[in-house]
Amino acid sequence: MNSPDLLVVGSGFFGLTIAEQAAAAGLRVTVIERRSHVGGNAYSEPEPSTGIEVHRYGAHLFHTSNEKVWAYANRFTAFTPYVHRVYTTHNGEVFPLPINLGTINQFFRAAHSPASARDLIAELASEFDAATAQSLEEKGVALIGRPLYEAFIAGYTAKQWQTPASELPASVISRLPVRYTYDNRYFNDTHEGLPVDGYTAWLERMADHPNIEVRLDTDFFDESQPLNKRAVVGQLPIVYTGPLDRYFEFEAGPLSWRTLDFEQEVLPVGDFQGTPVMNFADLDVPYTRIHEFRHFHPEREWYPDDRTVIVREYSRFADQGDEPYYPVNTPTDRQRLLAYRELTEAEKGVVFGGRLGTYQYLDMHMAIGAALSTWENKLRLSTN
Ligand code: FAD
Ligand code: NA
Repeated sequence: MNSPDLLVVGSGFFGLTIAEQAAAAGLRVTVIERRSHVGGNAYSEPEPSTGIEVHRYGAHLFHTSNEKVWAYANRFTAFTPYVHRVYTTHNGEVFPLPINLGTINQFFRAAHSPASARDLIAELASEFDAATAQSLEEKGVALIGRPLYEAFIAGYTAKQWQTPASELPASVISRLPVRYTYDNRYFNDTHEGLPVDGYTAWLERMADHPNIEVRLDTDFFDESQPLNKRAVVGQLPIVYTGPLDRYFEFEAGPLSWRTLDFEQEVLPVGDFQGTPVMNFADLDVPYTRIHEFRHFHPEREWYPDDRTVIVREYSRFADQGDEPYYPVNTPTDRQRLLAYRELTEAEKGVVFGGRLGTYQYLDMHMAIGAALSTWENKLRLSTN
């Protein structure tokens, strides 16, 4: 077999960025992907009956303050001027998020100025000291006071973790920013937008190079395909972006993840909720949020005006066989991660990258940025 100069396992943003950089430097790269499409979790596709672009593995919003990543992304796609905003339904009423002066004044039926809202929150938050809080509840109350914590944080977080808030560790939240202005723009980054032609077009353009061969439906651990782990490790340089514990056959124990379940529906209305994402803060609604995908692309005039696509999102702990989405990061996970890091050090010729390969949540811009520096610092010289 004519083997490639570099094998990349996984075609998400991390793997494709490595492949693109290596191909541009003249290497012949093969990317193998277990799924039947490229793109990893950022993959999207049109819902067939409406043409509305749906993000298959959960809504993806691109935002970055990293100029290098922004310039790199713009080589493959233009971005719309989309600005992300989130609302939440609590007790039969809709409030803006993140918690801001509008949320506070609506909740307390008041007309606080920034200064008097600050005083109010400081007063409410004095019940506990955030530094010594033992539970999520104590920490939430310490940061924003009991009324706002109970309305907007307790139920939502309990649903995310399928665990009563009183039993969750304080570490589940590090900070709860409150904005003392009416600004409810969700992200603070310099650049934000959605890819004009969709995520899949962007991802496919990254892989569109004569030096890159993509093999779909190809699992690294499947010994019936030639570029499997047993056959290639030590034979050629490899970038592995699949699950870290799976690579080492769970030698140090499984790492735990949360997963999401999506319930998609096409509805015979032009507009269901008037906004891309509505959170549901209360426990009596079983899902955490509803995405209405048409609102991510208000500029697409060809979207039908009599039908819409909504996706209800449910959150739970992942079992074997579920898609891993967010690292749980228990103390046991962190111990196991250290053991796996030692194993990766000893695994010569294999670079572990991306969110699954390093067991950490990475936004898209972080995955791209990490891949650009991995290429620059670990691979460029050693593969030339
Ligand atoms: P992935 O995209 O997971 O790619 C890994 C690839 O490896 C997958 O395609 C997988 O099939 C493949 N693979 C695994 N095992 C094997 C194997 N054995 N053989 C072959 N292939 C294999 N980021 C943002 O910036 N904004 C957002 O709004 C946002 N929302 C998100 C919402 C959700 C629900 C999730 C889960 C993530 C979100 N992200 C968001 C993060 C974004 O998805 C990641 O940054 C991106 O997926 C990271 O790319 P990656 O290449 O590291 O991993
Ligand atoms: Na406090």
